[in-house]
Amino acid sequence: MRVGLTYNLKKEMSQGEKSEHLPPDLYAEWDDFETIEAIQNALAQAHDIIPIEANEHAFKTLQEEKPDIVFNIAEGMKGVSREAHIPAMLEFLHIPYTGSDPLTLSLCLDKVRCKEILAYHHIPTPRFKVLTSANGNGSAKYLRYPLLVKPCHEGSSKGIYNNSLVYDAKELSGKVKTIFKDYHQPALAEEFLEGREFTVALLGNGKEVRVLPVIELDFDQLPPNANRIYSYEAKWIWDTVDSPLKIFTCPAEIDEEAETLIKSTAVKAYRIMRCRDWCRIDIRLDSFGIPHILELNPLPGILPRPENNSCFPKAARAADMDYNQLILEVLHIACKRYGILHG
Ligand SMILES: Nc1ncnc2c1ncn2[C@@H]1O[C@H](COP(=O)(O)OP(=O)(O)O)[C@@H](O)[C@H]1O
Ligand SMILES: [Mg+2]
Repeated sequence: MRVGLTYNLKKEMSQGEKSEHLPPDLYAEWDDFETIEAIQNALAQAHDIIPIEANEHAFKTLQEEKPDIVFNIAEGMKGVSREAHIPAMLEFLHIPYTGSDPLTLSLCLDKVRCKEILAYHHIPTPRFKVLTSANGNGSAKYLRYPLLVKPCHEGSSKGIYNNSLVYDAKELSGKVKTIFKDYHQPALAEEFLEGREFTVALLGNGKEVRVLPVIELDFDQLPPNANRIYSYEAKWIWDTVDSPLKIFTCPAEIDEEAETLIKSTAVKAYRIMRCRDWCRIDIRLDSFGIPHILELNPLPGILPRPENNSCFPKAARAADMDYNQLILEVLHIACKRYGILHG
């Protein structure tokens, strides 16, 4: 098949962007060259690949090239619907593609809308308030401190720093101000769940949804005095290829009952949000051991090298699936969903 690969290549912030006071983690979600190349190599084992950078020329290129299917990892440029832009173009052009549709991608990036939908379906998610003004802390007064404060629509730990855990109204208001200033969006204040944290990778559609071995985050591996959260520092600064943070345990060491509950909560959330083909779901236990959904990642990070500590490939390896097999499996699952026969 002729397979398009849509991506956003990570870049350094320009001097202009730095002087515009844009957040330092502006391009954290975008993929590095090594990842794009690794996906391309995996797909090239069986297909002809057309790499397409998800920029302002993407629509024209897709229209001209008309691939049989697109493997989409494009995180998008701007706005809460940014992850939906390429899938929307692909739908417009009747080109099949891997992963979730524009609606699911937008809803999952909007953490608040996503939580509202999960709550409607009685799926536990931390209690929260949306703060649209730094002085509007009154609306958070029914929440129990400490609170975890984050931007409403970011990913890759953007805007979630070690100091995002706040203990009183004054700290809350300071953090909310920072989020307005750096990210130009409302702040989501959530009750902090102190229990164990897991992330769950899922593959497939309909009755064939498959849960890969569960990963646990071991916060004891963080530097002393660090808050027990997977912050920007934990993801991008303390964890390096030369000195990987041994923060992930896979398969997680949990009893069968807890594992069943975590997996079934993940599958329910996957179905409710109408995810397609694949997704990674972050889950944390409350003090009673009940799994709560923190967020869904329908465009999961897939860094290729084991030292990169990327969760989806790690869970796949624990299920005896190497990187290339994982990429080809996602493509196969999408082809099956569209009824496309391929060799
Ligand atoms: N309500 C919460 N309670 C406890 N920890 C949280 C909560 N919300 C976020 N965290 C911590 O912050 C990390 C990042 O939050 P998350 O919502 O997954 O954002 P991102 O999209 O950046 O991954 C989580 O992995 C978890 O460690
Ligand atoms: Mg997360």
